[in-house]
Amino acid sequence: MSLLPSLLFVLMVTMAAAGPLCPGFYSQTCPQAEAIVRDVMRKAMATEPRSVASVMRFQFHDCFVNGCDASLLLDDTPSMLGEKLALSNINSLRSFEVVDEIKEALEKACPGVVSCADIIIMAARDAVALTGGPDWEVRLGRRDSLTASQEQSSNIMPSPRTNASSLIDLFSKYNLSVQDLVALSGSHSIGEARCFSIMFRLYNQSGLGKPDPAIDPGFRATLDKLCPLDVDQNVTGALDATSRLFDNQYFKDLVAGRGFLNSDQTLFTFPQTREYVTLFSNDENEFFKAFVEGMLKLGELQSGQPGEIRTNCRKVNSQAVDV
Ligand code: HEM
Repeated sequence: MSLLPSLLFVLMVTMAAAGPLCPGFYSQTCPQAEAIVRDVMRKAMATEPRSVASVMRFQFHDCFVNGCDASLLLDDTPSMLGEKLALSNINSLRSFEVVDEIKEALEKACPGVVSCADIIIMAARDAVALTGGPDWEVRLGRRDSLTASQEQSSNIMPSPRTNASSLIDLFSKYNLSVQDLVALSGSHSIGEARCFSIMFRLYNQSGLGKPDPAIDPGFRATLDKLCPLDVDQNVTGALDATSRLFDNQYFKDLVAGRGFLNSDQTLFTFPQTREYVTLFSNDENEFFKAFVEGMLKLGELQSGQPGEIRTNCRKVNSQAVDV
């Protein structure tokens, strides 16, 4: 019998599109999966507290570009420019090695079973839970993409200059509501951003050589000191006043004009988003509830393209194994 039909069958099976997502997807095939992910995340946080925020950000940057398929994690190849060097990601996304560590641990425990796309979703949830935020059940069963698109990522991912009305438009393309937008922006309750992302805000908002008038003057003095005109723009500052804790301080900061990014502060300046900022600043439980809802919706975005379970999150399997 020719080998070709069976080879084709194997390819079709291993590259099937993901089915419906469900909780406990690995309960038979890799029951320790979720515990392993949380354990590596806990260790990463002990080694470098910021790393869990950096990993949490992957869910946004992965899911908005062709669905949650770990396309973000693919390294460049001679024939494919990956997403890591896209405009919003270059010199900014970090802590990819934490995902590598999770993947290695999972491959040891249950080889070829847990997708990198699901790792991102579990790790993002764990980042929030480990820093004092809500904990929730995630739906799993995603498959990993066979390719990535730097161009799409550069075109889609919003810059820190974006205002609330453009953000509302962008999120609505993914069926994410105004409430989802504001709640998900609350992920900036943890982590840091570079001076690069706020220089225009401090020195040339709207091209008039003036700072953003929405910044509280006391906070602007602090930011000016952190990011003087001649600063190394990779210097970072905290995204809110309690950047190691997942809480509603981010929204309290916005109400006080102490948001770090323009895209953050504009959520309070615009009437449509302002009511949610006010609500979440007054009621942490409402924020947590809306945040979990938003993360679940964000995590549902799927391309419907064929996928596989990568053995190394940085490359597709066919690169490693010559067929
Ligand atoms: C609403 C539109 C959003 C914009 C415009 C935006 C933009 C940014 C920017 C510019 C930075 C700092 C980058 C740098 O200076 O290197 C950042 C950091 C971060 N973003 Fe967002 N973001 C948005 C939404 C989100 C969402 C939905 C999530 C997660 C679900 C998220 C999670 C994070 C985290 C955790 C950090 C800190 C990462 C670290 O410390 O390494 N962001 N974001």
